[in-house]
Amino acid sequence: MAYLNQVFDHNAPIAVCDSGVGGISVLRALRQEMPKEDFLYFGDSAYAPYGTKTTEEVRERVFSLVEEFRRRGAKACVVACNTATSAAVRALRETYPDYTIVGIEPALKPAVLYVREQERIPGTVVVMATPMTIRNEKFHNLMDRYVDRAHIIPLPCPGLMEFVERGETSGEALTDFIRKLLLPFDKEAVDAIVLGCTHYPFVADAVTSVMGERVKLFEGGPGTARETARRLRVAGLCTDRTGEGHVTIENSLSDEKIALCEHLLSL
Ligand code: DGL
Repeated sequence: MAYLNQVFDHNAPIAVCDSGVGGISVLRALRQEMPKEDFLYFGDSAYAPYGTKTTEEVRERVFSLVEEFRRRGAKACVVACNTATSAAVRALRETYPDYTIVGIEPALKPAVLYVREQERIPGTVVVMATPMTIRNEKFHNLMDRYVDRAHIIPLPCPGLMEFVERGETSGEALTDFIRKLLLPFDKEAVDAIVLGCTHYPFVADAVTSVMGERVKLFEGGPGTARETARRLRVAGLCTDRTGEGHVTIENSLSDEKIALCEHLLSL
């Protein structure tokens, strides 16, 4: 289908979406990078989790969200979900060439650079992500770029995002769950862990409590925020307001999820 080019207002909000509350870890980085911008955060908790659905289901859902953001005049969209990015970002860019769409990918590059700096050759990097992210071609292409520079182990973590969706970011049950996921790994042999799902930065302390302080954790939010700022500059879409921007939070499931997002954003 062909779309007419739409003109976006440089003072309009930037839409940020995720399957639920996890994208708040990206929103946090976006606000740090661009404090004057307005943001419209949409958490799709009614359809969560994305990571255990089919690629087609998630792609269809993300298309309908982006269509709605455009209709509401959001000047850009950050897909703050590794799973949705892997399922839909390429197709979204082809369908909406006039729109600034930024995705997120597991922060493998900084993790590999880090282990090289430690001179732990080849160095081991575990990538925790959803089953869909790890299955999809986008991740395999990413891994291929670094596979000769570090020992990279993808670890699908079905069930982990649900803890964050429930607001359970600490406690015995969470730590046990993470311990079981990481059981196959020798703590001394792992150098870095990539938190390749935007929900996981909220359980970073629990991961560290299992693996120890020496294992460095990486998340994709800051890199995505820098890339968003760069893309807005290129598109001439940076705000010219002077005060601090506003954040609006919406959720497809419930007001409790909005309250949870506000709480996570305040951490
Ligand atoms: N927050 C999402 C991500 O970054 C996924 C969680 C889900 O399975 O819906 O991959």
